[in-house]
Amino acid sequence: MSRQTQFLARYPTYEQTAPIDKIRAEDYARLDSTGQVYLDYTGGGLYADSQVCKHQDILLRGVFGNPHSSNPTSMAATCLVEGAREYVLRFFNADPAEYDVAFTPNASGALKLVGESYPFAPGGHYLLTFDNHNSVNGIREFAHAKGAQVTYVPLCLPDLRVDEDQLTRSLSLAKAGADNLFAFPAQSNFSSVKHPLGWIAKAQAAGWDVLLDAAAFAPTNRLDLAAHKPDFVPLSFYKVFGYPTGLGALIVRKDKLHKLHRPWFAGGTITVASVQGDKYYLAEGHAAFEDGTVDYLNIPAIEIGLRHIEAIGIDLINERVRCLTGWLLDNLTVMKHSTGVPLVRVYGPTDTESRGGAVTVNFFNAKGQAIDHRDIESAANRENISLRTGCFCNPGAGEVALGISRVELDVCFNGPGHENRLTLDDFRLCIDGKSTGAVRISVGMVSNFDDIERFLSFARGLLH
Ligand SMILES: Cc1ncc(COP(=O)(O)O)c(C=O)c1O
Repeated sequence: MSRQTQFLARYPTYEQTAPIDKIRAEDYARLDSTGQVYLDYTGGGLYADSQVCKHQDILLRGVFGNPHSSNPTSMAATCLVEGAREYVLRFFNADPAEYDVAFTPNASGALKLVGESYPFAPGGHYLLTFDNHNSVNGIREFAHAKGAQVTYVPLCLPDLRVDEDQLTRSLSLAKAGADNLFAFPAQSNFSSVKHPLGWIAKAQAAGWDVLLDAAAFAPTNRLDLAAHKPDFVPLSFYKVFGYPTGLGALIVRKDKLHKLHRPWFAGGTITVASVQGDKYYLAEGHAAFEDGTVDYLNIPAIEIGLRHIEAIGIDLINERVRCLTGWLLDNLTVMKHSTGVPLVRVYGPTDTESRGGAVTVNFFNAKGQAIDHRDIESAANRENISLRTGCFCNPGAGEVALGISRVELDVCFNGPGHENRLTLDDFRLCIDGKSTGAVRISVGMVSNFDDIERFLSFARGLLH
């Protein structure tokens, strides 16, 4: 039986995703014509030729001015920007009476808006999972500065999921009447664990506002904001459909907007500001969160990208990614050196249950010693395979996965000369003997069986 036949026997639903093969051949042909094996979809999605053409068409046919006016070219830009805004809500099934959208440069920009504006104060709390992107971790600096308590919910090995009892105990820490914010990723960018969306209502009932980081989840999963209603949802559009870069959004519940106090005002965020009167009035809704002129020539490409995903179908994308991830895990986890030592150790779940399409591993030689992830990346580069290595800006999950303890970190951070400066190489030396990173292989919308087979054959080449 050929490997493809074995694959289809094990993952029969993959065949239903054949329309995506056709789309790849027509709309992403440069992927195969250049011989690239792209396996970094969690880093960034890929765009279809047609998205670029449709966007170019809009730009070449219209005349667009700064939307802060009401002249005809300005109105033309406003029309496209507001159309895209409405489309974002529609795509995520968010009721416009309930949710608003502010355009940001990326997910980190959306997270910073929440961090700098949330009313952290003594008695209040910022609760977050160990498993979080640094742009969510970074919010703790606003919480610290304003005297709120910061608590991390730990992860359990080997799957890097959160212990529900522990979470329930942490959620009981919210003080009534205080402002409490709970943040977690719908899907981890390290282990690809999908954390339960049921936590949203549970946390809200316990007195928390909920920030759901959807950056790694949205590209391959249906996010239904009528079914689950987080208060703040940051995301980056280039991760969902590749083009354009430089745009993200903060989707925010309208009834929580009043809680966010911008620390400054800027062009576009006020109704009235006075120099002599030393006073300003913030605009209502999303306008208060969009500093200066929005990226009005690129924002129309968001609607084009979302329509592209809708035409393919997010559930079909999800199923394709599940099948390919399953095949990748099935094959990678059984590879062993002649000594019997397994080739990889997977950080996170080894089946497709409640996990997404990123597989994070370290490789080991026949003696069981870890191979430096940078060497794996260099070897993959030589075969035109694009992977991601390092800790993917998720130090909490990385520390748990790699067994780096609090004590070891304290020793590093308090070492002479390391009060204010620590390079990555210093850090490597400091936690000598332990890996400081891993290799992430992430499958996405237009990945196919051949991509996975090319990677598996690369991995087999590392066996001794
Ligand atoms: C889960 C998660 N959150 C936030 C971000 C930040 O996204 P950006 O770098 O586009 O701001 C990323 C990026 O990889 C991510 O994976």
